[in-house]
Amino acid sequence: MSKVKLCVFSDYHYWPALYPQDQSGLDTIIERAHTADADVILECGDFAAEATKNDGFLQKFLNNKYGIKTAFCYGNHELEQVDSLELLNKAYGVDNSYFYKDMFGFRFITVDTNFWYDDDGTLYHYPGRGVGSPKGWDYDDNAFGKEQLEWISKTIDESPYPCILLGHTPVDLSDKPDHKEFLKIIKAANEKNRGRVLIYFSGDKHRNHIAVVDDVLHFNINATYNGEWRSTKHNLFPKEFTEGHAMAANCSIFKDPLSAIVTVEDDGHIKIEGMETDYMYGVAPEMYGGPFEDQYGICEPRISSGEYYLLKK
Ligand SMILES: [Fe+2]
Repeated sequence: MSKVKLCVFSDYHYWPALYPQDQSGLDTIIERAHTADADVILECGDFAAEATKNDGFLQKFLNNKYGIKTAFCYGNHELEQVDSLELLNKAYGVDNSYFYKDMFGFRFITVDTNFWYDDDGTLYHYPGRGVGSPKGWDYDDNAFGKEQLEWISKTIDESPYPCILLGHTPVDLSDKPDHKEFLKIIKAANEKNRGRVLIYFSGDKHRNHIAVVDDVLHFNINATYNGEWRSTKHNLFPKEFTEGHAMAANCSIFKDPLSAIVTVEDDGHIKIEGMETDYMYGVAPEMYGGPFEDQYGICEPRISSGEYYLLKK
């Protein structure tokens, strides 16, 4: 029987020019992982904007002081402030933006959701340097591309282990063709080998959302700090808190860095130990026109706990 304990978080948004969080929250998360005796620290993208910058943040995670293994994927933030994907891959020590790693009796498959189709059907990868989607594409229109989908299918099929998938954007409520294809691949793999794919971890939405689709847990991990972002500044924080951080007054910020401890067993038993915090300076979305509901719910300063038996029927 295989069992792995993960410490998961997402959307840290380390970007001092924009947001007030410093590196200390990552120390807190690493300490939680260590105390819980986690085997792997897993993060789902938007970790840092300038990941290639040599200020110790990325290394604090990748080469953490306890030697805990890591799993990660790229969000849009990773690509927005780097010169090229090659430099980013080099900083992370990977050859490609999608890859797999076998650890603790599981196959961790990282997928890359930073692709788009142009109007004429040409596939593009996020080009980097410049905030926001290229050519005005909506980030929700992201795709995998045919080549990656084939790779995902093959990588799951050839795995001798149950698979844990991770990518930046959730797919369970999406109607995008590539996302539906991704779900189809997972479903087919599980029909062939029950329990072959157990979880898909994602981030991006800054929501506390979880769903079981075709016996697979779709765990959309809440942001570490950043709550509801609005294009208009609410200006409810003290001036000294937002000074030097261009977008701090555009969002609500969680007091403590959110993470969860997730225990995964190959028989489909998954246990989530979440956590709850407050809003920094009490500034909740309700104070600037919220709550703002979208298909993944509303902003909440928590990751819910829960227990699932995916294969018990
Ligand atoms: Fe994000």
